[in-house]
Amino acid sequence: MARVNDHFRLLKAGYLFPEIGRRVRAFQEANPDKSIIKLGIGDVTEPLPAAIREAMHAAIDELGDRDTFRGYGPEKGYPFLREAIAAHDFKGLNVSPEEIYISDGSKCDCGNVLDILAANGANKIAVADPVYPVYVDTNVMAGNAGPADENGRYEGLIYLEATAENDFQPAIPEAKADVVYLCYPNNPTGAVASKEYLAEWVAYAKRHGSLLLFDAAYTAFIKDADVPRSIYEIDGARDCAIEFRSFSKNAGFTGVRCAFTVVPEGLTGTASDGTEIPLAKLWDRRQSTKFNGVSYIVQRGAAAVYSEAGQRQTGELVDFYMENARLIREGLSALRMDVYGGVNAPYVWLKTPGGDSSWEFFDRLLTKANVVGTPGAGFGAAGEGYFRLSAFNSRENVIAALERIKAAL
Ligand code: MLT
Repeated sequence: MARVNDHFRLLKAGYLFPEIGRRVRAFQEANPDKSIIKLGIGDVTEPLPAAIREAMHAAIDELGDRDTFRGYGPEKGYPFLREAIAAHDFKGLNVSPEEIYISDGSKCDCGNVLDILAANGANKIAVADPVYPVYVDTNVMAGNAGPADENGRYEGLIYLEATAENDFQPAIPEAKADVVYLCYPNNPTGAVASKEYLAEWVAYAKRHGSLLLFDAAYTAFIKDADVPRSIYEIDGARDCAIEFRSFSKNAGFTGVRCAFTVVPEGLTGTASDGTEIPLAKLWDRRQSTKFNGVSYIVQRGAAAVYSEAGQRQTGELVDFYMENARLIREGLSALRMDVYGGVNAPYVWLKTPGGDSSWEFFDRLLTKANVVGTPGAGFGAAGEGYFRLSAFNSRENVIAALERIKAAL
């Protein structure tokens, strides 16, 4: 019989969102007459902008003509998309199209990047707590985490607590981490990082030779001019950071699937014999071996984000969700709840009222208000006593959810 990867047996319960889905389905089956409003997983609800749809239609027509038909595309993505990204998203930041790798999702890339790093505990990994569970679970699978304690904390990981007291910007540790995951705007807390704070991380990475894995999937939601959109706004970040970006939330691509990762030329890691190896070379090799690229149609849709109409329409989409975030934030504050985030990020993070645990509040909201959110404890031990509401829904549902919460609490 084939041997399985034993590390999978160290994973805690199910992945958070399927677990929530299971509970919601059970409630719905028992209460078929109830209409449930979902502000749990950050999944978009609004239709694809017209500029994107038009570009995708045109791409389909190209594929329907022998002269313009295309088969396999370049594994790292078509130049037209990589060039548009470099010119718009990294203007003035010295990121070249060659350093951009198109993929089918940031979640996938955040997990897949471990393929190019030594596994089985060879790297010490630091994550925030609370944290997007993918960073932790993929490290458990790679054998970097070891067993978990009764709070669900893995003994092999360094946890950086993000709390209201430190403005959800965890203290930079004394201990050396070889790899540090940073996510700003933050999922789940909705916090942002200042330039000074990111500069401290870059200095830390340089001091210790660490690699920063910077997840900027929500960067389009930043409204304040002084909040950095990219880690490469920080001097020296090109020598120590990989950045992940996504079209999922700003362009409505959660189902369409398109994202990209920046691996700067000159960013290196160390082989077991001490040789310095360019990470871009490994990532390129990884992608061209295991991935055949994102479809031409989808990449044409993603490139349309950067057209004049696409910029305007995706900007409106972002504004729409951010208005939802404002309504949630202000609606809950009016109920005297402690709320955070929701200003430069589409997530509102709140303290559970009445001393409820995160899952108790989840159940209370589900059964009494028929509203689904995400229990903070599902993002880590330091998320206990917190709860996340996502701004991704229709205006009507957000308003109805707030009314229901008000009536139920
Ligand atoms: C979330 O709700 O945290 C996100 O939707 C998860 C994801 O983007 O994978």
